[in-house]
Amino acid sequence: MNSSSIGEFPATRLRRLRQSPALRRLVAETHLSVGQLVLPLFACPGKKIRRPISAMPGVFQLSVDELVKEAARAQQLGVPAVLLFGIPAKKDERASGAYAANGIVQTAIRALKKELPSLLVITDVCLCEYMAHGHCGLVARRDRSGRVLNDPTLELLARTAASHAAAGADLVAPSDMMDGRVRAIRARLDGEGFIDTPIMSYAAKFTSAFYGPFREAAESTPHFGDRRSYQMDPANANEALREVALDVQEGADIVLVKPALAYLDILHRVKTEFGLPTAAYNVSGEYSMVKAAAARGWLDERAVTLESLLAMRRAGADILITYAAMDAARWLQE
Ligand code: PBG
Repeated sequence: MNSSSIGEFPATRLRRLRQSPALRRLVAETHLSVGQLVLPLFACPGKKIRRPISAMPGVFQLSVDELVKEAARAQQLGVPAVLLFGIPAKKDERASGAYAANGIVQTAIRALKKELPSLLVITDVCLCEYMAHGHCGLVARRDRSGRVLNDPTLELLARTAASHAAAGADLVAPSDMMDGRVRAIRARLDGEGFIDTPIMSYAAKFTSAFYGPFREAAESTPHFGDRRSYQMDPANANEALREVALDVQEGADIVLVKPALAYLDILHRVKTEFGLPTAAYNVSGEYSMVKAAAARGWLDERAVTLESLLAMRRAGADILITYAAMDAARWLQE
């Protein structure tokens, strides 16, 4: 006997709470708002360059002057943060462009901080875009297996992160997946006086075919081997929790799960287990699939994009990194 039921009428009709938009909003468990969005941007050398990335419609390699304009448009729409990637003029076997004081990302950071001081600038800390071979770490001479030299790489990652902080980055985001890099970066930042610069670590980053279009954008496709020796096996969820636990111990302030849509279970478990601010990276392949289907009229781009972002929020993401940030911001305002 249910005390709230009267006679033969059942009291458990969920439809009651779905009768109007206002009521639905009132009882919604998850909300999507522009303040949660982060827009990735690709900085390249030169002036007045806005080079389309063919596999990612609406995304461009931008020279710093154009990148500042793009960031200003995003900020105008309410997007609070950008995530910077760099395409250097030259690549080498030590990724020197990654930690050069006047490297492409360092230059972009300074320009953004000068022109748009209240925009949050997050930087991707990785070596793959700067390495001649395209791997995320140092590789032994003549080794073509795709294995990276974990420990010697840490020093270069730490230098890269510190050079970003010195240029004015608000947050650094290591995406390389070397073991021990959060500790190495934290120690270096602290040692150079950047004790208040938080680390958002790509804590659970899987080896994924969904990164395909990004590698065109960042020109970072490995020339040999693959990233399986340092990125995670898509089969493993418990291991993802161990990866996150290590990064948390080492001092990560925000943890990130990547990709997002095929890994919502990971997002949920990471948020539930650690309760830390958690970011979802809605990666290039996820973005491009929607764009391609929408261009053929097979999907409603706006509805699918907002539904996907909401699903990431529901799974546990506080922060949504997405190439669709500006579109989403516009749609959310309407
Ligand atoms: C660099 C890096 C990658 C992405 C973000 N940082 C590529 C990779 O690991 O190959 C992918 C982002 C995307 O696909 O949108 N290590």
